[in-house]
Amino acid sequence: MNAHDSRSMAVHSESSLTLKRLQPQLDAVWNRSSLSPIERQEFESRLETYFGELFDTLLELYGDRYDFFFHLQQILTSAAQAWVERSQSLKALDRQRINCPDWFSSQKVVGGALYVDLFSGSLNQLRQRIDYFKELGLTYLHLMPLFAVRPGDNDGGYAISDYRSVDPRLGTIQELRLLADELREAGIVLVLDFVFNHTSDDHLWAKMAQSGNYEHQQYYYIFPDRKIPDQYEHTLREIFPTVRRGNFTWHDGMQQWVWTTFNSFQWDLNYSNPAVFTAMLGELFFIANLGVDMLRLDAVAFIWKQMGTSCENRPKAHLLIQAFNRLTRIATPSLLFKSEAIVHPDDVVKYISKNECQISYNPTLMALLWESLATKKPTLLSQSLSHRHHLPDQTAWVNYLRCHDDIGWTFDDADAAALGINGYDHRRFLNQFYTGQFDGSFARGVPFQQNLATGDMRISGTMASLAGLELALDLKDPTQVDLAIGRITLLFGVSLSVGGIPLLYLGEEWGVLNDYDFTSDPTKASDSRWVHRSKMNWDYFDNLVSEPTPDDSLEASIRRRIFTSIQNLINCRKSLPGLAGQKMELVFSGNPHVLGFLRIWEGNRITVLGNFSDESQTIKGNHLRTAGLGRFFRDMISDQTLATSHDLVLEPYQIVWLVRQ
Ligand code: GLC
Ligand code: GLC
Repeated sequence: MNAHDSRSMAVHSESSLTLKRLQPQLDAVWNRSSLSPIERQEFESRLETYFGELFDTLLELYGDRYDFFFHLQQILTSAAQAWVERSQSLKALDRQRINCPDWFSSQKVVGGALYVDLFSGSLNQLRQRIDYFKELGLTYLHLMPLFAVRPGDNDGGYAISDYRSVDPRLGTIQELRLLADELREAGIVLVLDFVFNHTSDDHLWAKMAQSGNYEHQQYYYIFPDRKIPDQYEHTLREIFPTVRRGNFTWHDGMQQWVWTTFNSFQWDLNYSNPAVFTAMLGELFFIANLGVDMLRLDAVAFIWKQMGTSCENRPKAHLLIQAFNRLTRIATPSLLFKSEAIVHPDDVVKYISKNECQISYNPTLMALLWESLATKKPTLLSQSLSHRHHLPDQTAWVNYLRCHDDIGWTFDDADAAALGINGYDHRRFLNQFYTGQFDGSFARGVPFQQNLATGDMRISGTMASLAGLELALDLKDPTQVDLAIGRITLLFGVSLSVGGIPLLYLGEEWGVLNDYDFTSDPTKASDSRWVHRSKMNWDYFDNLVSEPTPDDSLEASIRRRIFTSIQNLINCRKSLPGLAGQKMELVFSGNPHVLGFLRIWEGNRITVLGNFSDESQTIKGNHLRTAGLGRFFRDMISDQTLATSHDLVLEPYQIVWLVRQ
């Protein structure tokens, strides 16, 4: 027996013994509850399955703490209590999804994300808009953070002062529950954020810490002087360099330094303290039991700090999420985690596993789609897709084009170097291009967090403004308008077909342009991400249903075109089983401007070809034949039949989804 085997034997025996010792704790919860024997048994059998791994993980994280067993008791009680409080309809969903763990791989799953206040005003008014989601074809809805926040700037809801109450401007917990129920009835899954890297500076724990309470000061990273912060700073990045230099904020009241990776009012939680893990687990279960199907784990990369490292993507960050994951398998088994790691692609993928985060944002695909539009060639995108798209079983990418955040150019420099591209120079070019400073650029992006010391910068802007629609409208140039719409539909055509869950950021379906008014609001003016967070204009939708009239304005007809193209693409995706799952193989198109890939799912095959240039491009018939298309095939988007005896000509930015006839 080697050392590893004997350790796992020892851990196994310890874990069985520990579980036996914990049983009275569990019985106490059951005795206080009205659970049926079957329900108890369901929980206990899942506990039996997952306790070994959970114990092992927690032991690695917290085993050297004198109070480890105390916290373990708390953790188990909290899990059992969460199961007791879980509604019957959620338990039914749990049973269903235990039997079908990859339900989210279906091509019928299509997501959307929105801010409740900007989209509909309040949670109650959002319930009135469920038909809109159905009309567009959405089956997954991510509501941006809606819990109670600090007054003033709250980082778009990401500075939470209480995880158990809704921001009163949006509604109440009861209204959120009602919305979750109605969405479930409508076949739409609900996704909320779990903002667990930090709390707001006015969260009760932070207030207790400010008042000198020892227990709660241990919840955060608080230092009396610069000695330790300075040691950490040697190896840390700056995430919001225009907010404040460095990662620590001086607190006048406490006369101490606090770790604040993001804004100065967002205090990083100290997960090396098991009390923080236990406390946040309670908040997680509370949110899950509201009827949430997926939790977006916000800022996952930052949750574990280790001196002498970047304090991003630490091995213990993974253990921490795995521990949360095991606990959800036991207590709230239908709940999934979505990773928000906007970091190097090698690090992004490490969060994705059925034991950690089942789904993950795909920031590299997002960035490289925009990169391909700028260069008119999907070469770097193909290079990246060739070895980065594959994922383990029961996991999926979440493919998005824009979101509430900025675009950072998170591709791998080695992928670029393999094509003779210098990563640093290329990022500079992309920043120039997307802020409209490059000759021939169509984009109207806005700089975000420009770091004068490093030259680093990210880009804000809506999908349509970045794709050239804002410029085209200013120029009143119909050809440019067509090209901009072409770019938008091309990008959607890829994100809806490449494999994974497509996620729209609502507003995209109307070609919403940048909104520069945020600068007049002092709580938003210094954060350019607000340029792409604007209010939904319901007139757009109301005008859509009325037939186009001769005096239809140019803008109204453009909106109608964008909306209907996206709606059609969504419907088309849902009708094609070949687009389910993740499996994707690149197809050699023989044309450097054309991205080609093949999707295969249970015997269904779809070949996707997309032209990234503003000129027509030809693909030779024999390349199509080697891609396995036979003599005749049908483009499912335009609904045309074509023959491989001829070369295929793609119009500027055209994308086709081809099925063999
Ligand atoms: C995430 C959010 C971003 C926020 C940050 C801090 O990255 O997407 O909007 O600023 O976390 O919570
Ligand atoms: C950084 C972080 C990411 C966050 C973003 C907000 O890129 O890695 O988590 O969303 O900043 O701008």
